[in-house]
Amino acid sequence: MEHVIASSLFGGSTLDPHSPQAAAIVGLFTSALALCGVILLIVVGLVSICVVRFRAQRKHEPAKTEGNTRLEVGWTLAPLAILAWLLVLTSRAMAISDPPIDREPDLTVIAHQWWWEVRYASGAITANEIHVPSGRPLVVRVESQDVVHDFWVPALGRKIDAIPGRPVNVWLQADEPGLYLGTCAEYCGAEHAWMRIRVVAQRPAEFAAWQAHERLAAAAPGDPAASRGAQMFGAKTCVSCHAIRNRDDTRVGPDLTHLAERATLGTGVIDNTAGELARWLKDPQRIKPGCHMPNLQLADGEVADLVAYLETLR
Ligand code: CUA
Repeated sequence: MEHVIASSLFGGSTLDPHSPQAAAIVGLFTSALALCGVILLIVVGLVSICVVRFRAQRKHEPAKTEGNTRLEVGWTLAPLAILAWLLVLTSRAMAISDPPIDREPDLTVIAHQWWWEVRYASGAITANEIHVPSGRPLVVRVESQDVVHDFWVPALGRKIDAIPGRPVNVWLQADEPGLYLGTCAEYCGAEHAWMRIRVVAQRPAEFAAWQAHERLAAAAPGDPAASRGAQMFGAKTCVSCHAIRNRDDTRVGPDLTHLAERATLGTGVIDNTAGELARWLKDPQRIKPGCHMPNLQLADGEVADLVAYLETLR
């Protein structure tokens, strides 16, 4: 259903923009690069001419020039004009990529060691996957719960530090429906490499349906295995860190109310399938060493019941 915007492990290229913000930044970068390239060519060209023309063995000294007003005015005005032009381009790019924010955030992204909490103003809550309506700018508040992280989605041109106690608001937009990959871009501890971000841009109607669904509490488990799993979720202390709405509202670990709908586990380490979920529950430390989810020493039968329950969380 969606096309993936990712040219590398870390996500789409910064040079392949998919939002007005990213396009403005890339436009500024390529203009500045072209300008610097022309200056480089002129300098290298002049130096090359001097190297060839005034080689020592030819015993040919260049003529000395003193007090050339035209030259001095020229080399003062030309750089001034170039810098003024760059200032105009930069101001324009800044105005497009970061216009003043005049409204409350549509959603808040809170960085944790090592996952992303995502809370919408509408009441929808998820983790690590940020859904947005395509073609519409959203205001995102970026915060950190612990250390400095950095929210980075290259193809959307968004890169902003998440600093504890200093929330910032940024615009986030994707031109077309698709999956835009990103990652934490500030070293934040052992599992910094596994703080992946998935921005899922959907057609506005699909996004509205997703958001409405994500606000719902979890359904009660139906079959016996899932019911045993639900009991175990409380008994094995999963409940002290993970919220399943209608049960509790802790925010230590990712909200699991609609866990089964998400694409990955461990913030991008493994795919979210029943088999991988069982492997994760059996020993998270083997898959993501240092993460805050301990090995709960679950028996295989307990893992199976928990998987049965967690798979109902759609
Ligand atoms: Cu979070 Cu690096």
